[in-house]
Amino acid sequence: MSDPSKTRIGVGVLGCGNVGSALIGLLEEQRTVIAERTGIALDVVRVAVRSATRDRNVVLADGVLTTDAASVVDDPEVDVVVELIGGIEPARELLAAALRLGKPVVTANKELLANYGAELYAAADAAGVDLLFEAAVGGGIPLIRPLRESLAAEPVRRVMGIVNGTTNYILSQMTEHGTKYHDALADAQSLGFAERDPTADVEGFDAAAKASIIATVAFGARVLAGSVYREGISGIGAADIAHAQRLGYVVKLLAIAEHVGQVEGKPELAVRVHPAMVPADHPLASVRDSFNAVFVEGDAVGELMLYGRGAGGRPTASAVLGDLIDAAGNRCRQTWTPIGGLGEAVIYSIDDLVSEYYINMEVLDRPGVLAAVAGVFGRHGVSIRSMEQEGLGDQARLVFITHQATERDVQATLGDLRELEAVRGVPALLRVISQ
Ligand SMILES: NC(=O)c1ccc[n+]([C@@H]2O[C@H](COP(=O)([O-])OP(=O)(O)OC[C@H]3O[C@@H](n4cnc5c(N)ncnc54)[C@H](OP(=O)(O)O)[C@@H]3O)[C@@H](O)[C@H]2O)c1
Repeated sequence: MSDPSKTRIGVGVLGCGNVGSALIGLLEEQRTVIAERTGIALDVVRVAVRSATRDRNVVLADGVLTTDAASVVDDPEVDVVVELIGGIEPARELLAAALRLGKPVVTANKELLANYGAELYAAADAAGVDLLFEAAVGGGIPLIRPLRESLAAEPVRRVMGIVNGTTNYILSQMTEHGTKYHDALADAQSLGFAERDPTADVEGFDAAAKASIIATVAFGARVLAGSVYREGISGIGAADIAHAQRLGYVVKLLAIAEHVGQVEGKPELAVRVHPAMVPADHPLASVRDSFNAVFVEGDAVGELMLYGRGAGGRPTASAVLGDLIDAAGNRCRQTWTPIGGLGEAVIYSIDDLVSEYYINMEVLDRPGVLAAVAGVFGRHGVSIRSMEQEGLGDQARLVFITHQATERDVQATLGDLRELEAVRGVPALLRVISQ
């Protein structure tokens, strides 16, 4: 029963899976506290699902559950729409319809925002209502609001994050227990951290969608998931992890959005996802298991890091509920937090990236090979900072760390190295993060 002294806001929830059911549970637990703090009674009046018969861990009044998601959006009792279905359609059309009706929207859908965010943000601003998406990146970690609001005037230089818990869990197991990649993946699958088809996580697609959203919010420019350079972790071997540790690094899958300059008045952004060697004393190196963290570097604020649970029903529901309270409050005050016009960005080619590189190669162990290999580095102007050799029977593993070089020159070096008769393979190339 609603308290008549509170303003009642009807909530329509689209999707009642991991996050949707956790949201409904958390809202029920916190309902009184929310009402006391905000003066708003949040009532879940409609919930849309795909299957009406599936058992759910939530208590809903008769008539609340439906399989007709569009009817939830249209329902005049629904003041705010929360989208927790995931994927592109029907989420995109449902959100667009809600915004056309002037209803604020909360979503956790990174895939949708990374591909169609610009049109949805414009529709929300045109309608003068909120489109809030704190949970779309970093699950329960407050990241979008700090970037959009607290750091609104901050000249952000770089945002660098561990934004995929599955890959961080796998890399942590490989680093701390010497587990092989496939065993660590199987372990993550048995614990429910990884999907049966882990491609989206291990090949970096999930992190790339999040990188595009981070870049859009941090730099106020349109960055689509398709323009994010992406590499996953499936090529990382135990030898790379061991060498990294010996050299004072930890291997992490990073999502990086970096402001590298201005071109004709547009920000030039380098947005990429790849495994990298992070110095062992960098704050991101200590982010273990399935935890996420985002490290922000700004001209005025310096360095700061946001850390926490990047996924899971309740942590994600916590972020969704924060957005829901904001959207409901704004709805009552007849205001909203505009996203603002997003400008165009010039996307920096990975070929122009300047970094130090770790290169691990297997060669025949015989005289003259090292000189031939060094000659190839020299021809492309890639200078070597350190080199280690490890015997592998009649072969040897050579591990190089280069000085700063462009990706273009390093890739050309690798291309020529692979042509050498004595080179058996170049299993790994990793970018090295400098402090
Ligand atoms: N899980 C996490 O840790 C996490 C973290 C951050 C962000 N997110 C994001 O949160 C969103 C939800 O994720 P989730 O893990 O909760 O997904 P989920 O467990 O698969 O739940 C999806 C829900 O949507 C419902 N649904 C699917 N198609 C529908 C349709 N056409 N009409 C109505 N309902 C439909 C499903 O109904 P049935 O139950 O009947 O199948 C289910 O209840 C996604 O965008 C995801 O990327 C999730």
